[in-house]
Amino acid sequence: MTQNLADTSRPAADNAHEAAPLAPVTGGASRDWWRDAVIYQVYPRSFADSNGDGMGDLPGIRSRLPYLRDLGVDAVWLSPFYASPQADAGYDVADYRAVDPMFGTLLDADALIRDAHRLGLRIIVDLVPNHSSDQHEWFQRALREGPGSPLRDRYHFRPGKGENGELPPNDWESIFGGPAWTRTEDPDGTPGDWYLHLFAPEQPDFDWDNPAVADEFRSILRFWLDMGVDGFRIDVAHGLVKAPGLPDLGGGDQLKLLGNDVMPFFDQDGVHEIYRSWRKILDEYPGQRIGVAEAWTPTVQRTANYVRPDELHQAFNFQYLGTDWEAAALRSVIDLSLDSMRPVDAPTTWVLSNHDVTRHATRFANEPGLGTQIRTPGDRGLGLRRARAATLLMLALPGSAYVYQGEELGLPDVTDLPDEVRQDPSFFRQAGQDGYRDGCRVPIPWSGTEAPYGFGPVAGGPSWLPQPAEWAELSVEAQTGDPSSTLELYRSALAVRRAQPDLGAGTGVEWLESPEGTLAFRRGSFVCTVNTTGEPVRIPAPGRLLLASTELVVDGGETVLAPDSTGWWAV
Ligand code: GLC
Repeated sequence: MTQNLADTSRPAADNAHEAAPLAPVTGGASRDWWRDAVIYQVYPRSFADSNGDGMGDLPGIRSRLPYLRDLGVDAVWLSPFYASPQADAGYDVADYRAVDPMFGTLLDADALIRDAHRLGLRIIVDLVPNHSSDQHEWFQRALREGPGSPLRDRYHFRPGKGENGELPPNDWESIFGGPAWTRTEDPDGTPGDWYLHLFAPEQPDFDWDNPAVADEFRSILRFWLDMGVDGFRIDVAHGLVKAPGLPDLGGGDQLKLLGNDVMPFFDQDGVHEIYRSWRKILDEYPGQRIGVAEAWTPTVQRTANYVRPDELHQAFNFQYLGTDWEAAALRSVIDLSLDSMRPVDAPTTWVLSNHDVTRHATRFANEPGLGTQIRTPGDRGLGLRRARAATLLMLALPGSAYVYQGEELGLPDVTDLPDEVRQDPSFFRQAGQDGYRDGCRVPIPWSGTEAPYGFGPVAGGPSWLPQPAEWAELSVEAQTGDPSSTLELYRSALAVRRAQPDLGAGTGVEWLESPEGTLAFRRGSFVCTVNTTGEPVRIPAPGRLLLASTELVVDGGETVLAPDSTGWWAV
């Protein structure tokens, strides 16, 4: 799986580079680039395929960087492209310092980073420190060498319970379903110890009490920082430290508890020491390199712990992502998010879609309360109208916003993928929580009328997941220049956000009185109005209309907020 040594060695010293000086982000009002950055998530498998094998790759991403620059984002976060057997789409890393051949080489990564910097885009890479692949050299040696191998102490190997060790060491369940433990075979072929994997069995958890693990990750951070990356998105940042003794949970529906309760394997206070040591490394490098936590915690207040001044810079706001399209609920999660981040002086982040959840155009097409894994298409027109409105609301809030590839095209989730093409490991494990994630991972339509719609170089060529026929109309080419398209809405919104210093900057919003089911808030010389109801609502026009998700009529000092719409106003 890993590349040969020539490929995995660092670029030669004369190639090593520091982040190029980059243009200031949004209007120059911000002291730190990341406080109000719009960060675009690229899912490398599904963005652009340069060699026609049906799988996206780094040269493909590189060729599309001008598109991202023109879209108007500030930074690009790349999901993992490291050497990996792909048991969990690359979140099972076999070699943290190599690019998987399916995505290219380290030289491609280097060229991508350089080109991005030249275009004024920053690059954030994914780091997966909670677990490795079971094909990682350490884990393979731990299995080969058997009990007593020092490599075993870098993971959680434990004897089983029961007379012959036939029961798992504790009652923890995998997030992907089934027990969080798998039994090994000793080198002599007899049943041996068990090892812990909070996710798939191919993803053994590291034991972060072992200093060798911490040393290795500090070195991996430096490797990519030396390559010039501007930051890291830290996968399962809340999972690294487990409660001493790995205590039983005592039954219950563990999946339901996730994110609502402190668990012995999540959000343990010990994780913060790790991020304090990483922050020191990030700060050694010029150009404000950042760390972004993927942390599922019981409360937004606990999420704030990850972004204290000496820890990471940002944490994803999953509470916001999980909020239904409903004015009162949105207002309260916005207030809660801003209030929780203020004491630690960290920017709030906003996110509506990513590679793990049903796209927001489909979530909002369905009835509220169904969660973030939805298997029905719902009312597509309604979903898209709300998704456009939700995006304008998100981009009007203070802080940093995340855009997931394809949402700027208004893509829905593909809810009818046949079982035989699915790859999400959770789909194949009983009672897993996220079994339908392939639906948001279908390759992007760029152009043309025949699949893969410019995703690959040849019309009629392959794509690792099939794209729906209707996607021809949703391609970048089809939407470009059409002022009513979702792509042009995103382009305009990001251009206005750059031009208006009051957008993105700051840490608060001033709520204005507005009828039930609507929201209105002011930020300096800017007002945002939102109607989350299915009915038009008449209000006094707040000022001059800058942009709207659905046409808004202004008439004699009044305006009618269209159903499920957001408006941006200059006042
Ligand atoms: C994170 C990733 C997800 C992955 C999991 C295990 O939640 O976003 O895609 O399956 O971690 O690495």
